[in-house]
Amino acid sequence: MKAELAMKAEKLDADDELAGKRAEFVLDEVVYLDGNSLGALPANVPGRVEDVVLRQWGRLRIRSWDESGWWTAPERIGDRIAPLVGAAAGQVVVGDSTSVNVFKAVVAAIRMAESAEPAGSGRDEILVDATTFPTDGYIAESAARMTGRTLRPVTPAEVPAALSERTAAVLLNHVDYRTGRLHDLPSLTAAVHAAGAYAVWDLCHSAGALPVGLDEHGVDLAVGCTYKYLNGGPGSPAYLYVRRDLQDRFDSPLPGWNSHADPFGMRGDFTPADGAPRGRVGTPDILSMLALEAALEVWDGVSIEAVRAKSLALTDFFLECVAAYVPEGRVESVTPVAHGERGSQVALRCEGAGDVMKALVEHGVVGDFRRPDVLRFGFTPLYVGFADVERAARVLGQVLARSA
Ligand SMILES: Cc1ncc(COP(=O)(O)O)c(C=O)c1O
Repeated sequence: MKAELAMKAEKLDADDELAGKRAEFVLDEVVYLDGNSLGALPANVPGRVEDVVLRQWGRLRIRSWDESGWWTAPERIGDRIAPLVGAAAGQVVVGDSTSVNVFKAVVAAIRMAESAEPAGSGRDEILVDATTFPTDGYIAESAARMTGRTLRPVTPAEVPAALSERTAAVLLNHVDYRTGRLHDLPSLTAAVHAAGAYAVWDLCHSAGALPVGLDEHGVDLAVGCTYKYLNGGPGSPAYLYVRRDLQDRFDSPLPGWNSHADPFGMRGDFTPADGAPRGRVGTPDILSMLALEAALEVWDGVSIEAVRAKSLALTDFFLECVAAYVPEGRVESVTPVAHGERGSQVALRCEGAGDVMKALVEHGVVGDFRRPDVLRFGFTPLYVGFADVERAARVLGQVLARSA
């Protein structure tokens, strides 16, 4: 069985049109299945960061705000991310953390709902994904409290039934960070719109792993991080998408001098900038941002459809190898089998998952552990190959056989 699966991996790697991309990353013999937490380092980033630090900052100093394009970096890099999430240019701005952008987007969505209705017509509820990554839930709760709304946690499946004329905004995750379940963005967005509310999507676990189609599906607002499948580096800045026809109504709860129409006018009153810059707040984090810009060059010539096809092939093959190598009954996949419901990770429920992951890491297979009992394996199609997948499942089988 081992020889058969190893041969299959070899054939899949030989036919893989993205296989050459791996050479653009700094990797070693470790099987790295944690790119859904921190993407690997693209090989061109260290040189770019050195140039930004030594030449742009060290020698050009203040001149770099213009001459090195620092001032316009948030929109320029936003436009580089835009095609990866299915957005036309001019709608994505990079900066701040995902958490901060969730706050901007949720409050702005509530304000849009309020301004669209006759006074006092009472869209007083916000729906939030009850299974969300915690930060989104905390921020939605605070946004609700600040704006005098009620927060209703519901699972994504319950959203259509929970929507009503009371709903102002809905905050959802495209892919569940724990189970890897892909939620139906087109139909949930349409349901939110049919109820007259605004949809905010968190794309942390989908951007760079699968097509999102923000423009195509009429998403109102979206946020996401850049340190997972976009490989921007630890703590690299997040992004905010505001659909073009909503930009004039985007009333940021964090208006800073960078989102002013005339930032250097130093005026006492606030006039928001037009377009994507309206989502900015303060001085951008240039070192991280320009490291991200370099990291995004690995996407040149890559189609997100090819990435998605490989991602599904990788997760299919992993499930096949796990079924073959892991002793019966030791793990249970909580990731949907249906392609239409699967992101780019496989989550396996496993007794003693924390210790099992430690043993895997010791044996050169890096995934992560999510409490209480989940082994999480992320598959980044740009640098994970099928031989990696076969080895990861084989080592998992050995670790579990030994601990039996
Ligand atoms: C779905 C989701 N939202 C938000 C975050 C984190 O937000 P921040 O970038 O502000 O730490 C994560 C981090 O893993 C996440 O998975």
